[in-house]
Amino acid sequence: MSFSSFSQASDLPAWSKLQALYDSKGKSLSVKEQFKQDADRFSKFTRTLKNYDDSEILFDFSKNIIDDEIFSALIQLAKEANIEALRDAMFAGEKINSTEERAVFHVALRNQSNKPMSVDGVDVVSEVNSVLAHMKEFTEEVRSGKWTGYTGKAITDIVNIGIGGSDLGPVMVTEALKSYSKRDLFVHFVSNIDGTHTAETLRNLNPETTLFLIASKTFTTAETTTNAKSAKSWFLETAKDEAHIAKHFVALSTNAEKVSEFGIDTKNMFGFENWVGGRYSVWSSIGLSVALYIGYDNFVDFLKGAEAVDKHFVETPLEQNIPVIGGLLSIWYNNFFGAQTHLVAPFDQYLHRFPAYLQQLSMESNGKSVTRSNEFVKYSTGSILFGEPATNSQHSFFQLVHQGTKLIPTDFILAAKSHNPIEKNLHQKMLASNFFAQAEALMVGKPKDVVEAEGAAPSLVPHKIFLGNRPTTSILAQEITPAALGSLIAYYEHVTFTEGAIWNINSFDQWGVELGKVLAKAIGAELNDKDDVSSHDASTNGLINQFKKWSL
Ligand code: F6P
Repeated sequence: MSFSSFSQASDLPAWSKLQALYDSKGKSLSVKEQFKQDADRFSKFTRTLKNYDDSEILFDFSKNIIDDEIFSALIQLAKEANIEALRDAMFAGEKINSTEERAVFHVALRNQSNKPMSVDGVDVVSEVNSVLAHMKEFTEEVRSGKWTGYTGKAITDIVNIGIGGSDLGPVMVTEALKSYSKRDLFVHFVSNIDGTHTAETLRNLNPETTLFLIASKTFTTAETTTNAKSAKSWFLETAKDEAHIAKHFVALSTNAEKVSEFGIDTKNMFGFENWVGGRYSVWSSIGLSVALYIGYDNFVDFLKGAEAVDKHFVETPLEQNIPVIGGLLSIWYNNFFGAQTHLVAPFDQYLHRFPAYLQQLSMESNGKSVTRSNEFVKYSTGSILFGEPATNSQHSFFQLVHQGTKLIPTDFILAAKSHNPIEKNLHQKMLASNFFAQAEALMVGKPKDVVEAEGAAPSLVPHKIFLGNRPTTSILAQEITPAALGSLIAYYEHVTFTEGAIWNINSFDQWGVELGKVLAKAIGAELNDKDDVSSHDASTNGLINQFKKWSL
């Protein structure tokens, strides 16, 4: 199936045009000068997203290295790459994940307006709604104390066991929305196969009041099934009777057979379909820990916030389309400036896991090197996404962003209203001043004459110069509500989609994670054998054999 009339994005006329624009002016375009020349630049390059609850998020793209001509060439590229056709195919439930022959339909999970949506002619709306109804009922029972453990006590602790998309989304969202939580219900996450993660998480928990959510789309992921078995043993050490598992273990999965093999009654399974990719699954029953933590109504607001962005993405012309613009800027830096990375720095402690979440979204989606037409790409694809919350990150790696030799396109995120306006909002104002100051400093820099006028010793002058002209996008929300967070995530999902559509790669498979899994399985068997191994390369043999000696 093909949605593009090209294989290589670099063959598109707009690509050549952008290359010519980069060579003739883009590489030396001064954003500071552009602001001087164009009084309307801020309004021209900002877009406001209106949410379903009338709240807004402002996206300021004006500090990027673009002008009108470059912007129109980028939009032209989106048109030539036929991004609208691919987008519409995704929203129509077509199998755009070509290598796995699957639809990419996580958008159907947040279809709160109940538009008809189907895959292979089969309606999905009623199934999605029935899982949501099950989640609602269960959430209310657990939160109210009606659902009790095997000794009749209410649940106090929820442990989500999952990895990748079955972990990162729930961790990030529960952290981000902590201020909406029921403060006497605690969530914990176990993902790593390192026994420390399970042991330290369970150390202070009481089996009588602990509920485990085993979150795995496939229910075959080695880390998750092993951690889940260890949790089951820990539970049964106290509870003794396997019949008690029903009150303490539920499964979030697409694989009913494996769920019941594990010993979980499929009545206690919350399902979803294989058209939900792991990294897009927080909207599905994989989000149950979120619903339990913040309450079902807040979970619905979270879905509605994402749905508002879906609507915007589908209905808005490309020139005004916020995720399309975000994605195109990423192409501009990646493919014409040679940028390798993308920094996301939330000025928000609650969003401290947001960059980690975005790493999977972006890098598992667009870390590909073969086009949809099965050719090796002739250009660079997925960026290395990284980030940490500010202001902490300012005091660690921002030095390199300001004065290093690399161009690092950056997104800053701030909510105007804090959930914790302590000390008469003093902290929030300091946080906000840094948000504005960093973007300003990266753009304006500090030229030689200013450093000299400040009286710096001649030998120090070069060290104190900031070249500036480092591109940033500032994202200003009113408040990080469940709806606003849903919107922010959906924004990045569609940015990722836009990039993949232009590069003409399949953003929805993840073959690259398979090889390591297969080799680990084989080596796992060898570790049980006391003899030295010799079947690998010399380095791998040497390491395995040393490990065997030291781990005895
Ligand atoms: O190994 C990568 C991956 O397949 C991710 O795409 C996925 O989110 C994760 O593993 C977990 O998979 P599952 O939910 O099936 O356990």
